[in-house]
Amino acid sequence: MTSPIDSAAWQQLQEHAQRFQRRDFRLDSLFTDDPKRFQHYSGQAGELLADYSKHFIDSASQASLLQLAQDQDLPAAIAAMFAGAEINNTEQRAALHVALREPANNRFPEVAETLNKMQQFVQAVHDKSWTGYTDKAITDVVNIGIGGSDLGPAMVSEALAAFHVPGLTVHFVSNVDPNHLHSVLARLDPATTLFVIASKSFTTLETHQNAAAARRWFLQSAGEASHVARHFVAISTNLDAAADFGIDPGNLFPMWDWVGGRYSLWSAIGLPIALAIGFDNFRELLAGAHTMDQHFRDTDLRDNLPVQLGLLTVFYTAFFNAHSTAVVPYSQPLAQFPSYLQQLYMESLGKRVRKDGSVVETNTGEVLWGTAGTNGQHSYFQLLHQGCEFTPVDFIAFAQSGVADSAEQHRHLLANCLSQSLALMSGKPGEDNPHKQVPGNRPSTTFIMPALTPGNLGSLIALYEHKVYVQSVIWDINAFDQWGVELGKILSKSMFAGFGNAESRAQLDPSSAGLLNQLMAWEEQT
Ligand code: F6P
Repeated sequence: MTSPIDSAAWQQLQEHAQRFQRRDFRLDSLFTDDPKRFQHYSGQAGELLADYSKHFIDSASQASLLQLAQDQDLPAAIAAMFAGAEINNTEQRAALHVALREPANNRFPEVAETLNKMQQFVQAVHDKSWTGYTDKAITDVVNIGIGGSDLGPAMVSEALAAFHVPGLTVHFVSNVDPNHLHSVLARLDPATTLFVIASKSFTTLETHQNAAAARRWFLQSAGEASHVARHFVAISTNLDAAADFGIDPGNLFPMWDWVGGRYSLWSAIGLPIALAIGFDNFRELLAGAHTMDQHFRDTDLRDNLPVQLGLLTVFYTAFFNAHSTAVVPYSQPLAQFPSYLQQLYMESLGKRVRKDGSVVETNTGEVLWGTAGTNGQHSYFQLLHQGCEFTPVDFIAFAQSGVADSAEQHRHLLANCLSQSLALMSGKPGEDNPHKQVPGNRPSTTFIMPALTPGNLGSLIALYEHKVYVQSVIWDINAFDQWGVELGKILSKSMFAGFGNAESRAQLDPSSAGLLNQLMAWEEQT
């Protein structure tokens, strides 16, 4: 694989960008030139419609983007992912999250087996045949995990609140800050609480600390260690470590090293989702993702949504000085979606070397951020409209609110969403007062779906997963490792040792030692 800048298309793209950036160029003039532009630059996969007509794209620039994709062997890279090739080259692993969504899993019988085990467990909790140590039904589930073992399940569970099974509440604890676990447990009864310990590696400090604290809390009431079996289950690739922690072997749900943490909500890591929304709905979530997988695998690059959107981001990062993308769901249930995407996007694309270890010659992953609309309009949209940053925006909206008797209110939400993308594109450039001038020429994508259902959410998440992969292939970086987070984990061990002994403290750098000494002095104060 070559560096993208070696593609002949790279130079052409630079010229297209210069053409689009000319002072007299107006993004909305593209609609005058091509009255069918909406049809030409939008597409649908399942129920998800993506409109990318408000981007700097025309047939000439699109041809160059597609040429770049060909030069970077994108079709072969897509096929390699689906075939289970070792595309995670630094960890010598496949990245086969798509296999978790295949309806009849002949390739991996262990996936179907695990789904069946999850289904039986979920059913038993729901029909109350699985009870706690006092024979009471489970009323609360606490998922303890962090990163990919928390963000996806937490976001999906919150997004699909309308589908929650009555009588069972699912909570998520991730932070090693004791306040997180404490604030959740304060409301719960140990006799009716089930803990799901979710950790691919089962070595993650935060999860260990929280799981141990949860067990202590539970045993204070339950007394007998044998009662743990009815209140603690675990999901991991490291089944021995989970068993060592004291999880009953019957309560272990496996996952596999070819599932990346941030791509794992489709695996047993999705257990809290299935507990929250029921197993049929969990299967709908998988089916929606599979619909997007088929679209990504089988659709020509020209009409392939993750491909088109990924190429546009590459274009902006390289030639428009774009440092970030804002994702704004006009859907309060999706408020956590940007936080979830931050791990998917930045842990995958925050890389500075290519797959062969050479330093990249282009910008790679930009910052991803956002909050639910319309709230964002009353905080950071000012910067999007008149600030100096070039920030492409992703809008997400649903035709139906899911709330009874809300048609008028929901139409206001949708009207705001559509108006913002129009305002970003067209602005108000003719205004005399410079303070009131809105330059426009700011691109956005709008995703619309009929309703926020498990299937549509599955499709939306899978679209972003594949968009991330497209960008990684063009940049020739590995989207599936995360070596950068290891250093902090190692350093935190020596820092922790510093609390316990003066010798370790003496070896610290002066700044860390100064801070640590002061923290220890204040620790004693009441
Ligand atoms: O933050 C680093 C990371 O390794 C993520 O990639 C992962 O999702 C998270 O920690 C949690 O890891 P685990 O599931 O192994 O506890």
